[in-house]
Amino acid sequence: MGIEVEADGLTKSFGRHTVWRDVSLTLPAGEISVMLGPSGTGKTVFLKTLVGLVRPERGRVVINGVDIVSCRERQLYRTRRLMGVMFQDGALFGSMNLYDNIAFPLREHTRRNERQIRSIVEEKMAMVGLSGAESKLPGEISGGMRKRAGLARALVLDPEFILCDEPDSGLDPVRTAYLSQLLIDLNAQIDATILIVTHNIQMARTVPDNIGMLYRRQLVTFGPREVLLTSDEPVVAQFLNGRRSGPIGMSEEKDAAATAAEAMTEPDLDDVRGVVPQLTPTPGQPYRQAAARRQERVMRILHQLPPAAQQGILAGRHEVSHERTG
Ligand SMILES: Nc1ncnc2c1ncn2[C@@H]1O[C@H](COP(=O)(O)OP(=O)(O)OP(=O)(O)O)[C@@H](O)[C@H]1O
Ligand SMILES: [Mg+2]
Repeated sequence: MGIEVEADGLTKSFGRHTVWRDVSLTLPAGEISVMLGPSGTGKTVFLKTLVGLVRPERGRVVINGVDIVSCRERQLYRTRRLMGVMFQDGALFGSMNLYDNIAFPLREHTRRNERQIRSIVEEKMAMVGLSGAESKLPGEISGGMRKRAGLARALVLDPEFILCDEPDSGLDPVRTAYLSQLLIDLNAQIDATILIVTHNIQMARTVPDNIGMLYRRQLVTFGPREVLLTSDEPVVAQFLNGRRSGPIGMSEEKDAAATAAEAMTEPDLDDVRGVVPQLTPTPGQPYRQAAARRQERVMRILHQLPPAAQQGILAGRHEVSHERTG
């Protein structure tokens, strides 16, 4: 089963600029979570903090009982072996072909022989639709292919915690739909804990069990997907609908007068808030164990959630039990 990841009271600044403060959340073991937030709110910095690449001034990140903020280098290295990261820019080595890029973590962290490495690399490349591109250099392929190569590389060590920074950016809508399904199927197969940073609302609505949002240097919400999807917070509604009117501006937060003026000029498009069914594994794939665990977990905290979220959870309940028996 995937591992629980706990962030506790995290604060990060660069010089005098505070990226976010006092961020606490728990990614439940084996569940899929999405982090949303306007550009520049520190989603990538948060993700890098969870894998120990960025060091916060305050707080803990506890993974498998180890606080990776304060532990020794060697223990951090060992804990990292449990994680697979797909970086926002792909982060491939430009002078290495795709095969060697994807094989890199296996050569770095394991003693597998070349025959074993070949079989793992080919399996993961097929999984992300890159078979046949082994000898290509990153500079010779499309941006979307680079992203998928980054995902294949994140998967070779069979991670228990997978982090994806905007996996959909640079992908066309059809590839994004395939990727969403791939993440669900992957979760069903290996039951890994998955954190996805994305601006893709369709992915955010249909893939995760939990959704959080960073805004104004804070984690404004994190919890079961139904909470954010039914929220009537202006910032959430603006973000989910991709509207200009709302508290988020092009470069900074706006004042109330500007917000009101804009609401007058922007046409009222269909509101995309609301709970839609979560994707389920492709027929033939295993049942998602996380779905049942999450079901029990949210029922225990149901009474603490807003009424709209409660309704969304109760309405979706039969889907989970149906999936299990079906
Ligand atoms: N190494 C660094 N040194 C100084 N400032 C940094 C560094 N890394 C990030 N920042 C700053 O931290 C803030 C958050 O950056 P981050 O990349 O996490 O944003 P983001 O939410 O991922 O945005 P996007 O959606 O555009 O990817 C930005 O103001 C950025 O300039
Ligand atoms: Mg980013």
